[in-house]
Amino acid sequence: MFYKYADGHGLPHDPLKAIVAPRPIGWISSRSKTGAINLAPFSFFNMISTKPCLVMFCSEGYKDSVAFVEETGEFAANLVSSHLAVAMNASSVNAPRGTSEFVYAGLTPADCELITAPRVTEAFASLECVVTEVRRPKDRNGNPVAAIMVIGEVVGVHISEDVLTDGLVDITKSKPVSRLGYMDFATTEVTYQMFRPKWGESK
Ligand SMILES: Cc1cc2nc3c(=O)[nH]c(=O)nc-3n(C[C@H](O)[C@H](O)[C@H](O)COP(=O)(O)O)c2cc1C
Repeated sequence: MFYKYADGHGLPHDPLKAIVAPRPIGWISSRSKTGAINLAPFSFFNMISTKPCLVMFCSEGYKDSVAFVEETGEFAANLVSSHLAVAMNASSVNAPRGTSEFVYAGLTPADCELITAPRVTEAFASLECVVTEVRRPKDRNGNPVAAIMVIGEVVGVHISEDVLTDGLVDITKSKPVSRLGYMDFATTEVTYQMFRPKWGESK
């Protein structure tokens, strides 16, 4: 099938998020300038550069995470293992601004090393980030959309020793959760390797 996006898909549910899937989940923890802490999952999340290491998350509307991150210029991006999927989902509750989703989801905030935002103690990894840009993406007519993109430079990295095998992050131990379409999630446990081709070498 093909449809013009503007005409609609005619399917029971919008397929787009099921097509652009799986998406990693950035579990964004932040602190307001008055010290309140916040936690929420964002699947519009990814690493976009390695040198420096930049990550981004995108909020559909001006959510508490964006407000706090703008106030202090810092956030932590925590990564979710399968045993934390329920807690991660709980932390997406639309709690009033200033109410900690750590408490609601039964999670433990820990101090970061280099930023004032907390991190999720239970997460297998946490990236301490300093905000570099808060952008308002535009549509094809140049009009700003409701989404707000936050880009942060990773200044510190926490990795649980429990997910390392011979110094490598072992996905069979970290069991990262990703977001699919609809109400679906996936846990990555099976991997395989491929090496990039070099022009002139046999395939
Ligand atoms: C797995 C998952 C992924 C989500 N991804 C996003 C996202 O990318 N962007 C967004 O705006 N909301 C996303 N949400 C919804 C937010 O987590 C939710 O609106 C939350 O209440 C925002 O919290 P805050 O107001 O404390 O920032 C997601 C929810 C779940 C469960």
